[in-house]
Amino acid sequence: MTAAPPRLEVQNLVRRYDGRTVVDDVSLKIEAGQVTCLLGPSGCGKSTTLRMIAGVDMQDEGRIHVDGNLVCDTVFRVPPERRSIGLMFQDFALFPHLSVAENIAFGLPRGGAGRRVEELLDRVSLSGFSPKYPHELSGGEQQRVALARALAPNPRILLMDEPFSGLDERLRDGIRDDTLALLKEEGTAVLLVTHEPHEAMRMADEIALMRAGRIVQQGAPYNIYNAPVDREAAAFFSDINILRGEVKGALTRTPFGEFLAPGVPDGTEVEIAIRPQHVKIDFDRAGRGPSPTPVDGTAARAVVERARFMGRESLVEFRLDDGDEILKATVPAVFLPKPGTVMWLMIRRDRCFVFPRRG
Ligand SMILES: Nc1ncnc2c1ncn2[C@@H]1O[C@H](COP(=O)(O)OP(=O)(O)OP(=O)(O)O)[C@@H](O)[C@H]1O
Ligand SMILES: [Mg+2]
Repeated sequence: MTAAPPRLEVQNLVRRYDGRTVVDDVSLKIEAGQVTCLLGPSGCGKSTTLRMIAGVDMQDEGRIHVDGNLVCDTVFRVPPERRSIGLMFQDFALFPHLSVAENIAFGLPRGGAGRRVEELLDRVSLSGFSPKYPHELSGGEQQRVALARALAPNPRILLMDEPFSGLDERLRDGIRDDTLALLKEEGTAVLLVTHEPHEAMRMADEIALMRAGRIVQQGAPYNIYNAPVDREAAAFFSDINILRGEVKGALTRTPFGEFLAPGVPDGTEVEIAIRPQHVKIDFDRAGRGPSPTPVDGTAARAVVERARFMGRESLVEFRLDDGDEILKATVPAVFLPKPGTVMWLMIRRDRCFVFPRRG
């Protein structure tokens, strides 16, 4: 028995505008019931990728399959309305002159729509909203109606382009979770575009990290966060600290002791990236710090530059004695040492990333 083909398979998509390649060899596979987030900075080609899958823009190279059936290549093309692909875009404009029920029923065949509309309204916790008009709804309620509208025809795939960006920050997480629960129930394959790492981490089964038209890394959120392919990928998810060094005998010497740089040739400059929450802080014991350990390496002496309370955590900036670099550390809850306080910092070897320096 062969496994069923993926719900959506995109192969080697390329799109050029005026001779400039804005989508560069993008390939993706999404299974039914899975949410993949296309995550990347503004202008990297996310919406263009989505438009080609929807069929409202045409690729210069590559193929798209739905459930194993060719939907388009560079000569053959199934029109957008026959792809069984639902769309939900940033402005998710509802039709202002149609009621909530009419908006949701818009893409459905006449007769029989009523029950599906009621079912969906119930699922998005808007029972009783049928006769209302869009201007009578809050932003969050409109978003839920738009979601119900997109899901009404039972699309095999739902493409969402920054669907939460118009919403109040405080509403967003709740709506994201409700949306995710509904999408999972419906078993739709979802490709969600966002430039917010937090959103991708919260929603995605898989993240495809995109930069300058290319997917640079793809995998479960845990892997993307904990094993970034390069410095930029690491920096996309949080502030990072960078230590620089030069490799000698597969080791790099830093104020925190030596770091392994296996396979990196002598003389290569490397950058060691560490997230602020993985910098360990210890107190000064009459001019001495904690003893070195294999896990934490050598402690480096540092002086507090400033400390700020951020709500969930405190952010403390240190100036290293050796090297004069500033290092940020976050600590859960309240930790606000005075500027000038001497402390010792350590860097967990299993939490840092060593990258050869580019350019
Ligand atoms: N129709 C078009 N003609 C020419 N250039 C275009 C066209 N559409 C998009 N572009 C360019 O292609 C690049 C990618 O655009 P795209 O809209 O895919 O980015 P994005 O990743 O969705 O960004 P954002 O997060 O800002 O929405 C941009 O540089 C954009 O200016
Ligand atoms: Mg976009």
